[in-house]
Parts: sequence; structure tokens; C-alpha cells
Amino acid sequence: MITSALKWVGDTDGFLELIDQRRLPSDVVMLKCRNIEQLFDAIKSLAVRGAPAIGVAGAYGLVLSIQKLNNSSDLKMAFAALNKARERLASSRPTAVNLVWAMDRVVKKVERFAADKPATDLQTLKDIVLNEANSIFQEDAAMCLRIGENGQKFIKQGDSILTHCNAGALATAGRGTALSIMFEAHEKGKKFRVYADETRPLLQGSRLTAWELKQAGIDVTIICDNMAGWLMKQGKINTVFTGADRIAANGDAANKIGTYSVAVLAKKHNIPFHIAAPSSTFDLGIKNGSQIPIEQRPAQEVTCLGDKIIAPKGVDVYNPAFDVTEAALITAIITEKGVIENPDTDSISEHLRQ
Ligand code: MRU
Repeated sequence: MITSALKWVGDTDGFLELIDQRRLPSDVVMLKCRNIEQLFDAIKSLAVRGAPAIGVAGAYGLVLSIQKLNNSSDLKMAFAALNKARERLASSRPTAVNLVWAMDRVVKKVERFAADKPATDLQTLKDIVLNEANSIFQEDAAMCLRIGENGQKFIKQGDSILTHCNAGALATAGRGTALSIMFEAHEKGKKFRVYADETRPLLQGSRLTAWELKQAGIDVTIICDNMAGWLMKQGKINTVFTGADRIAANGDAANKIGTYSVAVLAKKHNIPFHIAAPSSTFDLGIKNGSQIPIEQRPAQEVTCLGDKIIAPKGVDVYNPAFDVTEAALITAIITEKGVIENPDTDSISEHLRQ
């Protein structure tokens, strides 16, 4: 089993090392990011992906943004470099709120420090940025474990689970969100089966989720996305777990395109639909899901399968990467703090205040 999708190597002059998820499952290849443009490309092209993982990657990106500044550079230059990198990386993937959340946390930390101690030297500033990125990494890994512990009670012996996209170790700094719940239930000795939607167009379900679950010894079966409804109708699925990329104050949740269809189907068949996400995925600054920006992706992701062209040349393509499931379709949101049943604005704000 993989222990981490990404890690920082070395001190403030180090680099970010990622599992290149574009190459999975055929090849397990590491990718080194040594500057902002390399990291921007890695995030944009989904070499590193999943909301919490790109948050952690963005935080480490801020270390890269100032590591080449030398002692003659003043703090103003460092802040300018941090903010420029923040803007650039934030533009790579607009839906997952964890990316801006993590970078803002780092920038605020150094701003507060420099305001308290104006004589701060550049190396101290670099240390603070790296320490904060390390804290975000460690906290994310710990949150994953707690999400697993809080959610495992929703998996019963003999359950048949549907999941969509990849909310596993590859998508976080730890063992995942939705998949952490499955890993925890599996370690507790529960026997269950998972159906993994293949998750067109980039196949995170078949390439990544099935890979992770198989390695963990969990019974996993891949289905095409359009099969989920029929399996539900036949009674082959009795519970659903997915992750989320951004959750609005009222509980509307953005996740990989196709999640909304799964939630509607689950409602129709009286199947509980759970979302697992750390508190860094909530965006209380927006009231509801209509305000969540939805990333549009290149047409080639739909018209090609690998190198093979599977659509007529020049055909129009619409390729939103995410959709929004309204709170009314969500049975429960599982976080590192506990469980929000029937989420709404009040229950969410109360939960996050704890
Ligand atoms: O486009 P991706 O692969 O980054 O989309 C990821 C998802 O939609 C995940 O389900 C989500 O980030 C939750 S990951 C813990």
C-alpha cells in the first residue's frame, strides 16, 4: 500500500516529490517539482490530484517560490514571490477549495510573524513557510485517520458499497477520506464489497481507486459510470461513499463529475449517500453550491482514450470536471470531528465550531 502520494524532500532548499498519478496503475513513477511552473503543470495535468493533496502540494509550492531568494533579498521581495506563486497555483484548479485554503494559511502565518517581528531574516521566513506546510501535511494525514474512525460504523458486514472517483491515499497526505473509512472497516475485520465507478473521462476510479483497494486486499469491482443505476435497481449496492472538493455553508458539495447522478440514483433507491471530507474542504464563505466555481477541462480528455482518438475530429465537447450535489441528497457528511447527519447551514456551522 502506498504511504503517501507526495512528500517534501530536504530542508528549505529541497523539493516536492509526487507519485505521478497520470502513469498509474501501469507505472509507479516519482515526479520531482523544483519550481512553481513544474508544480503548476503537475497540478493542472493531474499528476497530483484530489482536493487535500493539491492543498498540501500548494503549501509546499510556497517553499519553492522563495527558496532561491538570497540574503540580499528583502522581506518585501519574499512576500511578493509568495503572493505571485499563490495566484499562479490557485489558477491551476479552481474547484478544490483546499488549494487556496492551504496557501492562505501559510501566507497568513508568515504575515503575522513578520508583523510581530519586523527584523525577521529571510531564512527564518523560509523556515516558517516550510514548517507550516509540514503542519498542513501532518494534520491532513491525521484527519484522514479520524475520518476513517468516525465513518467505519456506517459500513456493515456484507455491505456492497459504491464509490466514485478517487478519495483515497492518492488524493490526500494520509490514507484518504472515503477510502480511509473502507480501510478502517477492513482492518476491523468487516467483509464488504466495493464497486468503483470507472469515472470518465480520466478514469480515477478504475486506475486509482481499484488499484488502492486491491492493494489493501479489499474486494473491489470496477463498473462503467452508466451502470450504477442498474446495480442499485438490482439491490447490488446498499451504501455510497464519496469525497468532496468543496462544501458550501449549506452542505451542497462539489465532487467529481458524475457524483450528482450517483446521489440522485441513491435517493431514488433509498440508499444512503455519504460524503467524507476534512474541515478544510468546507467553504463557509459561500452560501450554497451555485457559487462553487466549476473547472472546465480540455476536450481531448473526452475525445481521446490515451493516444487513441474516439470521437470525430472537430466535434464540440463539454467537459466540466465537477458537479454539485445538493445537501438534501446527502445522508451524512463525515469529517475528522465526527458526523453531520442531514447537513444544513446550522448543523454544519455548529459542527465546525467544535
Ligand atoms: O479531478 P480530481 O481527480 O482531482 O478530482 C478529485 C475528486 O473529485 C475527489 O473525489 C475529491 O477531491 C475528494 S479527494 C479526498
